[in-house]
Amino acid sequence: VSGPSRKNFTSDNVTGAAAEILAALAAANSGTAAGYGADEWSARLTGRASEVFERKVAILPVTTGTAANALALGLLAPAHGAIYCHETAHVMTDECGAPEFYSGGAKLLCLPGAAGKLSPGSIATSMAFIGTMGVHHVQPAAVTISQATEWGTVYSLAEVDALARVAHEHRLAVHMDGARFANALAHLGCSPAEATWKRGIDVLSLGATKNGALAAEAIVLFDPSRAAELAFRRKRGGHLWSKLRFLSAQLLAYFEDELWLRHARHANALAARLGKGLVELGGRLQAPVEANEVFVSLPEALVAGLRAAGYEFYDWISPPGGSGPVIRLVTAYDMQRADVNALLDAARTVRRD
Ligand SMILES: Cc1ncc(COP(=O)(O)O)c(C=O)c1O
Repeated sequence: VSGPSRKNFTSDNVTGAAAEILAALAAANSGTAAGYGADEWSARLTGRASEVFERKVAILPVTTGTAANALALGLLAPAHGAIYCHETAHVMTDECGAPEFYSGGAKLLCLPGAAGKLSPGSIATSMAFIGTMGVHHVQPAAVTISQATEWGTVYSLAEVDALARVAHEHRLAVHMDGARFANALAHLGCSPAEATWKRGIDVLSLGATKNGALAAEAIVLFDPSRAAELAFRRKRGGHLWSKLRFLSAQLLAYFEDELWLRHARHANALAARLGKGLVELGGRLQAPVEANEVFVSLPEALVAGLRAAGYEFYDWISPPGGSGPVIRLVTAYDMQRADVNALLDAARTVRRD
């Protein structure tokens, strides 16, 4: 999948699929199987996910993170509802209004917060304001947090606890956008249960595509009694695959032998190395490197030199008065330590010249 010298650091979406995932797809490809999730892989997936999360869960596979988030939030918020999210949240900036569409019009209310994280205080303040507005204002229904965040940081268990406590005090459901959940889990070093429902998470969008699957995400409901309604919503939204066994087979392989965690630990370690190396070369991290993304400001000549050497990465929002352009570099499961070392060597060469 990756070439001898991997220079594309734009995203973890640029990866191919892992050999284990492709093998699972090939194995699921023999013979016939019942359609629409009535197959043996999907039945096994429910059991496996319940083991992984240490309680009975419902798990509904879909093919995009946007679908997972939008269907989950549509389940949690009525059309006249409000959903709190961070101002940089993927649901806010990158999903083309899908959560609003799937909920029939619920409004995303975005709040600021350092390092891509929501704070309990800002939710409580907004709730107090809305409480004075009566029928004129959308009614708060849910909070959604990204774990890992859009700034590559990870909410600590205590931070998730505090947010969920405030949310539940106000009868808001708590959703976690876990497009990079495995990376967050690898950073936290706790069990999937400790990171989610034990902290008060009601619904998780579990990502797998960025971390080795071909195309597989899932909505995990920690209250399985809501699965029947979600199943109708998924079908109505056009996200019920007829050959669902191929999604379930990918997710089973994702959990097998901790493939998801092995991949995430690897990608996180590479990001940490990359971040440290760039700081040693004069870079300034914009946020702590806790998952598989590095946001760093570098001298303009260094950014240009890396691009001239063939490296690809995104320009990011630069704070006013900052010390050079901010770029985002993303590591992934298929990247080698040598790829990161090569980028750092290239940066050293640019600096010397
Ligand atoms: C935080 C977050 N949520 C969700 C997604 C999933 O999006 P997609 O619909 O592209 O699979 C992404 C992908 O970039 C993401 O970064």
